[in-house]
Amino acid sequence: MSSPIRKIGVLTGGGDAPGLNAVIRAVVKAGCNANVDVLGVEDSFDGLLEFNRCHVLNTKDVTGILRRGGTILGTINTGDPFVRRITTAEGVEHSYADRVVEMFHRMGLGGLVVIGGDGTLGLAHRFSLLGIPIVGVPKTIDNDIVGTTNCFGFDTAVSFATDAIDRLHTTAEAHRRIMVVEVMGRYAGWIALHAGIGGGADVILLPEFPYDIAAVAERITARDAWGAHFSIVVVAEGAKPRNGRVSVIEAAGLGKAERLGGAGHLVAAALEQLTGKETRTVVLGHLQRGGSPTSYDRVLATRFGTTAVDVLLSGEHDCMVASRPPDIVTVPLSQIVGRTRTVPVDSDVVRTARAVGIGFGE
Ligand code: F6P
Repeated sequence: MSSPIRKIGVLTGGGDAPGLNAVIRAVVKAGCNANVDVLGVEDSFDGLLEFNRCHVLNTKDVTGILRRGGTILGTINTGDPFVRRITTAEGVEHSYADRVVEMFHRMGLGGLVVIGGDGTLGLAHRFSLLGIPIVGVPKTIDNDIVGTTNCFGFDTAVSFATDAIDRLHTTAEAHRRIMVVEVMGRYAGWIALHAGIGGGADVILLPEFPYDIAAVAERITARDAWGAHFSIVVVAEGAKPRNGRVSVIEAAGLGKAERLGGAGHLVAAALEQLTGKETRTVVLGHLQRGGSPTSYDRVLATRFGTTAVDVLLSGEHDCMVASRPPDIVTVPLSQIVGRTRTVPVDSDVVRTARAVGIGFGE
């Protein structure tokens, strides 16, 4: 039976992550193959405020974007549509959310694929409750969305961070230094844990294990004693000392998450003092979000995109496509909103790290 939906929209929200374009491409190609028009919506839900911010995308428009980072649609990670008021091009004032719903229908759309992280998927759930059929696609380098074992973008970020750690070994060994590498991930330590294991770190500090800096220093001194005169310490940006707080560089605002930063510098300064060893810090920052997606992320993004179209056309919505190997499944958006998937402290990856002698600052 063919779907009554003849036109769908696709948008990207939140911070960019490698693989967004791969999802857009997959949605457009799967839509075209199902004889459905696909509208590219610019700048997250903002694109639904005016007709001229949505454009039909065909296969030719997405040719060659599989390997490109960023998003051809633009994205926004600030502002709360449910408190904002806007003035349209005709000078009429509206509630942002009401305008989005009205325009969704006026554009003749039958559904939306919303590609985003926890914030954007939370908005997607609220718009679903207002009657917009939405299927979400989980995006984040942090890999912290509940209900899916993997988000696209994570593998690329981990690969980049691993490569950076490899390179930092050179100076660490040559100068007998401690090199502290701060990685992203917000309140979850997935990037730090995986890049730390992949890069052969000696210590990994995660948000999930508040650290004792004296224990970290002891481990480094012990390495020195047996002849390893350098150490690599990977610090998640959300890592915090025992009885301490996360390092924040900008407080949260309306519709804007707090910005983390500085954890690596704190750890480095304390380690230099406690061990007497020369210490340097490298903050990988947005480099982890840039560049071309890995093949793993391209494949995952493509599977998510094509499945999202299938799900939407089958009539299911207010859900997110999710990876549950070997399958792509759906999870109700209501189950993921407001939750964060952190590293389980007794997971096999943590046990693996311990088994190869990596310390967590305990
Ligand atoms: O959620 C992805 C992420 O890159 C986090 O790891 C990081 O804390 C945050 O976004 C940075 O956000 P912004 O680009 O707004 O500084």
